[in-house]
Amino acid sequence: MLSLASLKPNERVVDLGSGDGRIVIAAAKSFGASALGVDVRGALVKECRRRVREMGLSGRVKVLRRNFRDVSLRKADVISRSSGGSPTVSCHSPRRAGRRRTRFTST
Ligand SMILES: C[S@@+](CC[C@H](N)C(=O)[O-])C[C@H]1O[C@@H](n2cnc3c(N)ncnc32)[C@H](O)[C@@H]1O
Repeated sequence: MLSLASLKPNERVVDLGSGDGRIVIAAAKSFGASALGVDVRGALVKECRRRVREMGLSGRVKVLRRNFRDVSLRKADVISRSSGGSPTVSCHSPRRAGRRRTRFTST
């Protein structure tokens, strides 16, 4: 999914519904990106934070316990959202001038 979005080092991923953190961890570990995970389920947020800490990725990965509808996506280069289908990627023109296109990935 992240390869499909051509994720590059130092770009920022926001995973809407980050679960156990596999996407945010892969973004940081395999692509050198920074990542924000958002999930409403406290147990998953706790588990994700634990994994991030254990893997030494705390400097690159943050996880919020929140409804993802309340999270700003303005700084995201790649937005990820799992919905149970086949991987897709699409591009959206940013509102702010001068910014790269934000890619949206979904499975
Ligand atoms: C199928 S899991 C995906 C986990 C992970 N992104 C992955 O690809 O492995 C979907 C997650 O979305 C979370 N979720 C669903 N609706 C949400 C909402 N409105 N705000 C935050 N998290 C939400 C669920 O708690 C669940 O952990």
